[in-house]
Amino acid sequence: MATIDRPRVLVIDDEEGPRQSLRIILKEQFNVLLASNVDEGARLLQDLGADAVVIDIRMPGTNGIEGLARIREIDRRISVIVLTGYGTLETAQQALRLGATDYITKPFDTHEMVRVVRRNVERTRRERQKLRLIAELRELNRRTVEEKARLEKLARLGEASAELLHDLRNPLTTIIGYTEMLADELEKKSQNEHGDWEEALRYLQIIENNVRRCRDLAAMWREGELGRRREKIHPAQLLEDVRVAVNFVQAGSPPHPVFETGESVPHIIGDRGQLLRAIHNVVTNAIQAASTTAGEVRVMTRKVDGEVEICVEDTGPGMPAEVMQRLFEPYFTTRAAGGGMGLGMAIARKIVEQHSGRIEVESRPNQGTRVRLIFPAVSPAEENE
Ligand SMILES: Nc1ncnc2c1ncn2[C@@H]1O[C@H](COP(=O)(O)OP(=O)(O)OP(=O)(O)O)[C@@H](O)[C@H]1O
Ligand SMILES: [Mg+2]
Repeated sequence: MATIDRPRVLVIDDEEGPRQSLRIILKEQFNVLLASNVDEGARLLQDLGADAVVIDIRMPGTNGIEGLARIREIDRRISVIVLTGYGTLETAQQALRLGATDYITKPFDTHEMVRVVRRNVERTRRERQKLRLIAELRELNRRTVEEKARLEKLARLGEASAELLHDLRNPLTTIIGYTEMLADELEKKSQNEHGDWEEALRYLQIIENNVRRCRDLAAMWREGELGRRREKIHPAQLLEDVRVAVNFVQAGSPPHPVFETGESVPHIIGDRGQLLRAIHNVVTNAIQAASTTAGEVRVMTRKVDGEVEICVEDTGPGMPAEVMQRLFEPYFTTRAAGGGMGLGMAIARKIVEQHSGRIEVESRPNQGTRVRLIFPAVSPAEENE
């Protein structure tokens, strides 16, 4: 007889008579385990498991109510039917309060007993299934959260990669330009001593600085976030870095930007490499714009109230409203295919905002554009430190 798949019922009763009669009543439909006290029952439950327990309330030693607690410690979901001796409804109800799922009064009706046990076996199975479903849902949820984090990380990496590619162009262009100039100087020097060592060394220094910028950009990409160095920087220094770097923005006859550093501009706090990236991108746009109209570019710094303004002005073609609206949108560009990634302004804004600053843009078609990068100035006390 295939008894393996039949539900298992544990009967705990101290009296031999009821124990045996329960076995006879239940054995047709269930595998029956018999125990004559709570300890023995607990051991069987622990070792073999069951789908329902029938337990007598009145037993010497550990009684059914205490037994109930022991059973619950072993299996929180199993159905427990208590047998109450004399129709003492009060004890039965106490048992229900303490976590029994059903009760039957002695003497019991055979059919009633089978029905109640079957009902409780079903209940245990439903509870266990519920538990399994909950566990599966939790697992599903955990995996979804994990997957979401993975996708977000990939998206961030993609974004960072695009930014890296975008801004590597700037120092690389500078490096190529100065390398060519350095080669010219060395050539002159080797031929007729007319070359200038000092100039050559200056070019070499600029090349070195820009190689470092490339290395920093690659490091930032690896670390997955923008650099967050916080140093005291003078805007004039930044402008000087930009001036040197934008010499080679493009071929043809680009305008040479005019740089003006206002008197007594206070320092700002931030990451020099990052700020350089932001300004470089804005100045590059201005040069590109002005070169189409033979216009001019001016880069200025000044103090306005407690803030420092870095202002980039061009007399290029300006922007229509539709372009202005989408100016900071990543990958928005009006340049011909291959001309621009549409990331310059998006990167500039991100960096400026990470420095607690803001960007303000005014543009008039056919007249030009003014972009102002505005940063909090250091306090007068910090200025004098
Ligand atoms: N000074 C400006 N004058 C006129 N148009 C500008 C100016 N600055 C930006 N724009 C417009 O805004 C668009 C977006 O600029 P952004 O710098 O974000 O990208 P891009 O210059 O097209 O490409 P990338 O900077 O990635 O090489 C440009 O394509 C251009 O149409
Ligand atoms: Mg640009």
